[in-house]
Amino acid sequence: MSSSCSRVQITPVDPTDPDALSAWNTVLGEGFNAGREAAWWASQETTLARFEDPMPERLSVLLVASLDGEAIGAAGADVDPGDPAEVEISVLPAHRRRGVGTALAAAVHEALAGRAEVIQAETYSEAGVAFALAQGMRLGNQEHRLLLDMPLDPAVLTGVREAARPVAGIEVRTWRGACPEELVGDWARLSTQMEADVPMGDLTRPASRSDVAQIRRNEQRMDAQGWTLVRALAYTGGTAVGYTEIFVNRHDPEIITQDDTLVDRAHRGRGIGRALKAANLENLVGVPEAGGSRWIQTYTALDNAPMLALNRAVGFREADG
Ligand SMILES: CC(C)(COP(=O)(O)OP(=O)(O)OC[C@H]1O[C@@H](n2cnc3c(N)ncnc32)[C@H](O)[C@@H]1OP(=O)(O)O)[C@@H](O)C(=O)NCCC(=O)NCCS
Repeated sequence: MSSSCSRVQITPVDPTDPDALSAWNTVLGEGFNAGREAAWWASQETTLARFEDPMPERLSVLLVASLDGEAIGAAGADVDPGDPAEVEISVLPAHRRRGVGTALAAAVHEALAGRAEVIQAETYSEAGVAFALAQGMRLGNQEHRLLLDMPLDPAVLTGVREAARPVAGIEVRTWRGACPEELVGDWARLSTQMEADVPMGDLTRPASRSDVAQIRRNEQRMDAQGWTLVRALAYTGGTAVGYTEIFVNRHDPEIITQDDTLVDRAHRGRGIGRALKAANLENLVGVPEAGGSRWIQTYTALDNAPMLALNRAVGFREADG
């Protein structure tokens, strides 16, 4: 380790101290998003709300690396009993390749000792991949990050509608916020299925807990963190066969997230995915905060050809080169 690294101090962050928590979130986000176009990061309000109401059984580790009192890197880890630990480590660009990331990783491992069997991390850069491999991690799944410019070009919406082949007997139901009571059972069933079905490479999905009570609790947490849930369910013959969801954050509506889309295996290839996405983009138009947004961001696995084709048809382009 270089001499500068011996002056680096790694200290835990108290998640109940709003200033310390905000400073931690800032440095973590700056390290992760340095040099990236239009990349989302959790706002301070969302981060404060997340730690104000922590999941009861979750262990969270928050660390900051500082040099002469200035924060230069940070790490965060969350682990729910029985699930893989989700770890984030970042170092500001001016302080990289001096062992700070390695020191943060060692401190995370120490804090998680005995609490997790598998560690998962997401990275968006070559440096991150090289670093993770140097840490002895292996590549589990690779995704493209895609961006769609907002406000939506009316031609995009028209094009999506026109391109959507008429799907006989398919009805799409949309809503914003909490799921309507009459749909919540279907929503629970399908979102559970998503956990088993979506191409995720080798990654481990957390155990499914998508029962109705869990869904209601999650809706409340998301709302407290500023999220408007924009969702659509597709039905055929009274059976729910697919869904899609978009998240808009009222604290930071600039980047909207297009999250999961699932069509039941038995009903794929009939245009249901496109019908769902078209309906939900229209649903999004009704969210007031979306008026101030500049991009919709989504991630699609490199080998998920149908979803990549669908996203491109909707107008998404690849970000991050
Ligand atoms: C990944 C990141 C945290 C590394 O921080 P760092 O302080 O530069 O890492 P270290 O100096 O401890 O690097 C340790 C080893 O990782 C590998 N590594 C790190 N960055 C690398 C790069 N840009 N190219 C090639 N190898 C790299 C090297 O093997 C390095 O050892 P060496 O410098 O002796 O060759 C930093 O680049 C970053 O913040 N990136 C954005 C966030 C991110 O992707 N996090 C990864 C989550 S797993």
